[in-house]
Amino acid sequence: MGENLVYKILKKHLVDGELKAGNTISIKIDNTLTQDSTGTMAYLQLEAMGIKKVKTEKSVAFIDHNMLQQGFENADDHRYIQTAADKYGIYFSRPGNGICHQVYLERFSKPGNTLLGSDSHTPTAGGVGMIAIGAGGLDVALAMAGKAYSIKAPEVVKVNLIGKLNNMVASKDIILEVLRRETVKGGVGKVYEYGGEGLKYLSVPQRATITNMGAELGATTSIFPSDKKTLEFFKAQGREDEWMELKPDADAVYDRVIDINLDELVPMAAKPHSPDNVDTIKNIGKIKINQVAIGSCTNSSYEDLMKVAQILKGKKVHKDVSLVIAPGSRQVMEMISRNGALADIISSGARILENSCGPCIGMGQSPGTDAVSLRTFNRNFYGRSGTLSAKVYLVSPETAAVSAITGVLTDPMEMPVDFENLSVDRFITDDSMIIKPAEDGDKVEVERGPNIKPFPLNTELADSVSGKAVLKVGDNITTDHIMPSNAKLLPYRSNIPYLSGFCFSTIDEDFPKRAEENGGGFIVGGDNYGQGSSREHAALAPLYLGIKGVIVKSFARIHKANLINSGIIPMVFENPDDYGRIDQMDELVIDDAINKVECGKITVKDVTKGFEFDVIVELSDSDVEVIKAGGKLNYTKKTAN
Ligand code: F3S
Repeated sequence: MGENLVYKILKKHLVDGELKAGNTISIKIDNTLTQDSTGTMAYLQLEAMGIKKVKTEKSVAFIDHNMLQQGFENADDHRYIQTAADKYGIYFSRPGNGICHQVYLERFSKPGNTLLGSDSHTPTAGGVGMIAIGAGGLDVALAMAGKAYSIKAPEVVKVNLIGKLNNMVASKDIILEVLRRETVKGGVGKVYEYGGEGLKYLSVPQRATITNMGAELGATTSIFPSDKKTLEFFKAQGREDEWMELKPDADAVYDRVIDINLDELVPMAAKPHSPDNVDTIKNIGKIKINQVAIGSCTNSSYEDLMKVAQILKGKKVHKDVSLVIAPGSRQVMEMISRNGALADIISSGARILENSCGPCIGMGQSPGTDAVSLRTFNRNFYGRSGTLSAKVYLVSPETAAVSAITGVLTDPMEMPVDFENLSVDRFITDDSMIIKPAEDGDKVEVERGPNIKPFPLNTELADSVSGKAVLKVGDNITTDHIMPSNAKLLPYRSNIPYLSGFCFSTIDEDFPKRAEENGGGFIVGGDNYGQGSSREHAALAPLYLGIKGVIVKSFARIHKANLINSGIIPMVFENPDDYGRIDQMDELVIDDAINKVECGKITVKDVTKGFEFDVIVELSDSDVEVIKAGGKLNYTKKTAN
């Protein structure tokens, strides 16, 4: 029985455990990445561990999220990260150099390596054949400290690409089709490995759009083989020496195979407010639009922006539409500037933004009240744009650009363009905005502004845990709901005491006060709790507010890991009907908590209603120790001494 590509790479990196789907394994991490929004915490954690220098092959710190400098906070954070990177042996990508995943793909990716990143779209690098996984900042800090990373050995789903995409149909439409079929929950515990004859027509940037948005499936990661197309990309980046061929065995075995006929695909959109709410543009119809935003780590490559420029050339943006474009990297910006494509974009009436995440993270360009916004991004969760009443549709760059001209959602196949000069023999490569770390980190002093507050720490698990159900929420609660991430709050990512005052503020703004007045307690939720991002702050803010446990019908993977890291007990109703029996502010009690956490099943008493219910606590042996120690940092310190 042949091996698939995922298991080939995992096998090479296996440190502990048996490689069998569902088993907990630990793997060696070769590379890490952080962005500024999660990076400050990751480096505070690394410092707290007393590590002198990172032990990874190469680690990179990017600045791409919090770019507005309306106060001192963001600039202070950037300075802190830059000096910490210098000291601890981490490469530093300066603000303006681009979005972490785009720059990583261009300048750092390496087929066959493992990458752990404190951003949920880290799987983007799977586009060149890496096992690239998104995790919380603490896991990334631990990987930098040389610790192996624990995951469940995944099921591997092969996505078999048949045929070739029609003109004006994009790789974005491939991943939208996968999301339509698999849903935002369908990928939990799985890796999607792409294969089939259709591969030979897909460039690395097109593949990276797919692996990027594979995160929306809830998947561990997604991956493409490293083949001739990958070699083309590495040659054009002047990095052919870092390329190697990687493919599954001819008789490789998969847990499931999905066939996608590329020549039958048509342009699609994910409708508000979920990336899997997918329909064809034709079915959705010609709705009037107010804003179009092109960019983000999903669709901001040179190839994407060249297509956009060629669609916009000689045309004007509709008078009722605001078109904003953020190139993914300085490389992309420089290339479209030098070849004239940027002039075509500007001449159409588009507004050019900095090479950063920008509107994707609600950092400017929020749509107007009730506005319809077409975005080439990867997420359209309620409120993420910064405007609660806005309706965000996720589309390809082709659909976005064509619709910006017509003023209504338009199938780009109605306005075909023959794209020219999309392949690049040689990208402009200039790494002067990537700063190498100091040879002797001991001499570097880390600079800390007043916005850098200490990392919140939990206490050891007590034998009796009690408190009120200080919040009850429904299904599909995202990390955006738990810890909103808008332009006003982003500067406080390194200041948990301030941030926690806004925890769950889009759902129940009294929650932080109620939690504090009651000395913390429990959160009760429905299915898929914590979906969305690796945002560690969605666990750290509840920790700061004294939350001891979260009881839900089901968890999203990364958020559950972040709760464990914070020492918050993640509990799943054994009988989901019990959810309906608990009301907000019921008093809950767990007796014999330490033993119960060890055996994986806890009986919770609802003292207010006078009944008991069982919850499952699915934890690995090491997770149990982490919960008992009151979080991973406490655990690491304890085991290091
Ligand atoms: Fe940035 Fe949005 Fe990607 S915040 S890393 S562009 S998902």
